[in-house]
Amino acid sequence: MKVLVIGSGGREHAICWKFAQSPKIEKVYCINGNGGISQIAQVSDIDISDFERLAAFVKENGIDFTFVGPEIPLSQGIVDFFKERKLKIVGSSKDASRLESSKIYSKQFMKNYGIATAQYHSFFNAQDALDFLDKWGNKKAVVKADGLAAGKGVYICANADEAKKAVCEMMNDRVFGSAGSKIIIEEFISGRELSYLIFTDGKTYSMMPAAQDHKRINDNDEGQNTGGMGAYAPAPLATAALNKKVEDQIIKKVMLGLASEKLDYKGVLYIGVIMNKDKPFVLEFNCRFGDPETQAVLPLLETDLTDICLAILDEKLADIKITWKKQFAVSVVAASGGYPNKYKTGFEIKGLNKVKDALVFHAGTKTEHGKILTAGGRVLAITALADNIQEAIDKAYRNIVLIDFDGIHYRKDIAKRLL
Ligand code: GLY
Repeated sequence: MKVLVIGSGGREHAICWKFAQSPKIEKVYCINGNGGISQIAQVSDIDISDFERLAAFVKENGIDFTFVGPEIPLSQGIVDFFKERKLKIVGSSKDASRLESSKIYSKQFMKNYGIATAQYHSFFNAQDALDFLDKWGNKKAVVKADGLAAGKGVYICANADEAKKAVCEMMNDRVFGSAGSKIIIEEFISGRELSYLIFTDGKTYSMMPAAQDHKRINDNDEGQNTGGMGAYAPAPLATAALNKKVEDQIIKKVMLGLASEKLDYKGVLYIGVIMNKDKPFVLEFNCRFGDPETQAVLPLLETDLTDICLAILDEKLADIKITWKKQFAVSVVAASGGYPNKYKTGFEIKGLNKVKDALVFHAGTKTEHGKILTAGGRVLAITALADNIQEAIDKAYRNIVLIDFDGIHYRKDIAKRLL
């Protein structure tokens, strides 16, 4: 079979890598790929929002099914477009993708189906939000842009004044463009965050090992927010008892909501959960694999990803048994100096061939004249698997020190909170 993966980050490298191991897959295609993906897949350049061209590419190359990595084409309706043309595709429909692409929709969904989440108010103009904040007082507030903002549309504000600033940036200055034309303001919930991911065919689901991300740029969770500087899985915090709670109190209700709303969902759902006094609250839904969680989770998957996708497409996920390695995965992201602010690219990445007992998942890289160069903020991730946490951490760091490029920055404390 031939599979097309859409996307060009570390997550998509991990997805392509997993498909490339499948005995059923003769060829992996990727749009638009990166320097690492091009070593295992045929990479082509097409705008991932140009569905006509993507569909034509699939037909021309006799591709059996497509797997969508990022949220933008999902929110724009790639799944609906492909299905109308009888092309098989794993992902959420445009309507279902509103769980990620509209915070207001997703909050309403949670309210309708009794899923615990922070109390919130939605606003359609800045003045109403500012008037509301006049009565907020001196407690923390979370201001969220309604639409997609590449993971940057959430401000955690110390008090009403900071929240007002956030409202003005989003709604008046439009720092996130039209994504900030509507916003929500919600209560801040404290606690430890967990990333729960499930495969679903819309009827049933299968939970993946829960992961934890490291959002801040610097050690000890200091500094600016990023797309994610590292992850590990399975998270020890996600005990069997907690997983059962999340399944009963969140996942089953989501499945009921998908069915009741007749939402067509065949893919991966990411549920960002925060644990507050032993109670799981949903922070967000994403209609796709997480990044960098995928780089930690997929290497643990024993089952053929192709079999899972085919079962999803046939709505037969309940018929297959999905198994996971009894190991621990740590993934450390190496970023360009300056990220998440301005950074330079085009530096040669050295030492890639020295990495022996870990995986390298490329993100912002490209190949030029036989060399691999940096081409983005998050450049690559090193993932190490081992039988215990300490060994996995040691292995990941033993390998990442072998990599070098101008300005390389990575956190030295990924997963170390567990020791
Ligand atoms: N790691 C967070 C995300 O993928 O959205």
